[in-house]
Amino acid sequence: MGKIIAVANQKGGVGKTTTSINLAASLAAIRHRVLLIDLDPQGNTTMGCGVDKKALSLSAYEVLAGQAAAREAIIPLADIGLDLLPGNSDLTAAQVELMQRKNRERVLAETLASCRSEYQFVIIDCPPSLNILTLNALVAADSVLIPMQCEYYALEGLSDLMDTLRNIRETVNPELRIEGLLRTMHDTRSRLAAEVSEQLVEHFSDQVLRTVIPRNIRLAEAPSHGLPVMKYDKSSKGALAYLALAGEIVRRNQKSQTAA
Ligand SMILES: Nc1ncnc2c1ncn2[C@@H]1O[C@H](COP(=O)(O)OP(=O)(O)O)[C@@H](O)[C@H]1O
Ligand SMILES: [Mg+2]
Repeated sequence: MGKIIAVANQKGGVGKTTTSINLAASLAAIRHRVLLIDLDPQGNTTMGCGVDKKALSLSAYEVLAGQAAAREAIIPLADIGLDLLPGNSDLTAAQVELMQRKNRERVLAETLASCRSEYQFVIIDCPPSLNILTLNALVAADSVLIPMQCEYYALEGLSDLMDTLRNIRETVNPELRIEGLLRTMHDTRSRLAAEVSEQLVEHFSDQVLRTVIPRNIRLAEAPSHGLPVMKYDKSSKGALAYLALAGEIVRRNQKSQTAA
């Protein structure tokens, strides 16, 4: 059964999309069957995989609106080695339609039930807010991966997110775990980043992933070529970091399975 990981943080620009694309591509590169879902109306994950968000015949919107099965809207991307459920600005309309549905927070979970067994990992890129789309991702998910930048206000935003996750656990998804806090865009020369990073480990101990994603220009360039970084520059620091992250996540999951 595929493990579903939602990549979420209500803050924009923290590296959710970069992490979704590159974690998914790295898991695929180490021979896992992966489905990547773009749940952000901005469609950056879709474009970053080289798929034109304006030319989609079916997308996550039709799936959430009950007009298509997930399987029909999924695009196999042989070059990257994964499957993509693409998204675009139509997802804005999905938010409105979902609000009128019964069990509106479970629609994604129900649609994924039929296809998740085909994958080992399902990675969901969430929009930068705690809206009904993000709620659907957090209800469908087994765990949430939280990318964050080690800057002054990071910890403050994080406690809001932790409250929300607690709330979700107490109501709609008791099984939701925290996959980990991921430090992104890390600048090794910044004292502030080092301090915040230290505080993070103090507060959250082993919920903080060991892998740290450095600030790396290749990671910012790759989407404009429609490629994950490992296909764009596989020896870049960014590519190596996301490969290490994939390895860490696979190992953590093997451990928790043997512990269970
Ligand atoms: N590690 C990194 N190094 C350099 N640039 C990065 C890195 N991670 C993300 N970026 C860039 O920062 C911006 C925001 O990242 P993105 O992944 O789109 O964040 P989010 O999805 O949380 O809004 C993008 O332009 C992206 O290319
Ligand atoms: Mg994004």
